[in-house]
Amino acid sequence: MQTYSGPCRSVLYIPGSKPRALEKAQGLAVDAIIFDLEDAVSPDEKIAARDLLAETLKTAEYGPRRRIVRINGFDTDWGAEDLKAVAASGPDAVLLPKVDGGADIAKLAEMLDAIPAAKDTTIWAMMETPRGILNAAEIAAAPRMEGFVLGTNDLAKDLRSTGRAAMMTSLQLCLLAARAEGLICVDGVYNAFKDDEGLRAECAEGRDMGFDGKTLIHPAQIEIANAAFGPSEEELALARRQIAAFEEAKAAGQGVAVLDGKIVENLHVASAQRILAQAEAIARLEG
Ligand code: COA
Ligand code: MG
Repeated sequence: MQTYSGPCRSVLYIPGSKPRALEKAQGLAVDAIIFDLEDAVSPDEKIAARDLLAETLKTAEYGPRRRIVRINGFDTDWGAEDLKAVAASGPDAVLLPKVDGGADIAKLAEMLDAIPAAKDTTIWAMMETPRGILNAAEIAAAPRMEGFVLGTNDLAKDLRSTGRAAMMTSLQLCLLAARAEGLICVDGVYNAFKDDEGLRAECAEGRDMGFDGKTLIHPAQIEIANAAFGPSEEELALARRQIAAFEEAKAAGQGVAVLDGKIVENLHVASAQRILAQAEAIARLEG
């Protein structure tokens, strides 16, 4: 299942305990927000953050930005109460941390089924444990699933790994599972939030792998992610030319066109149409 078809280029984490950040996000150019009650909030702030977030979701205006709430896991003292408090305001999605298998999602889906305000609330999964990565396919196929968020910091901790190269199998398994079920798949955070060049390079890598966007920790990262994961002018121009070339070939009774010395088949046209549709969705969101 996936119900959201808008862009997810930039997905900003906001600690649920920070009123200034919650307010600031109402005016930021992000496609989605993860309101965090889990690791960005210290244990002694958990309950105050939950109350602040529940109230904020009822009263604050986030426009077209997708509102995703990351609750604490159900194996903690806070998870069940977090869900009760935030689901009453009908967020777009609930993000469950440290998902190990499809049963974790099925349990959350059943809890949402019992909350009328959460009738249309979807589920996103943090993919950040070795077991969860190995069970990516069954997690993606679980009820109410809409998206994966790669939790690369937790994953590196559990793998005892360093660097992106060690992460590749995990990232690709998640992408495969997400695409098999038509879900959104968002890359992990770039921790050095003052290093624009490093962020740009990691965004480009994630985009080329097939991710829809990147999770972010600081407003200074938004523009770079939006630019990397949105189609460029060159990509749009090429997409239009590919569609035109294919139409022309088809009118001449050919099944295949040639453009700039490269073959254009109907599968390339499908990709070109996806890029144009993405640009339209971005324009709708920004307009
Ligand atoms: N979302 C919204 N606004 C944010 C923000 C965020 N994630 N991070 C910072 N801001 C705001 C600040 O409130 C500040 O606003 P103002 O100047 O208009 O009052 C402005 O952006 C500049 O912040 P800055 O002083 O540069 O950052 P900081 O030193 O206060 O905080 C971090 C740096 C990393 C602690 C902070 O960005 C943060 O908490 N990020 C989220 C971490 C998180 O959620 N982690 C969990 C998932 S990995
Ligand atoms: Mg984590």
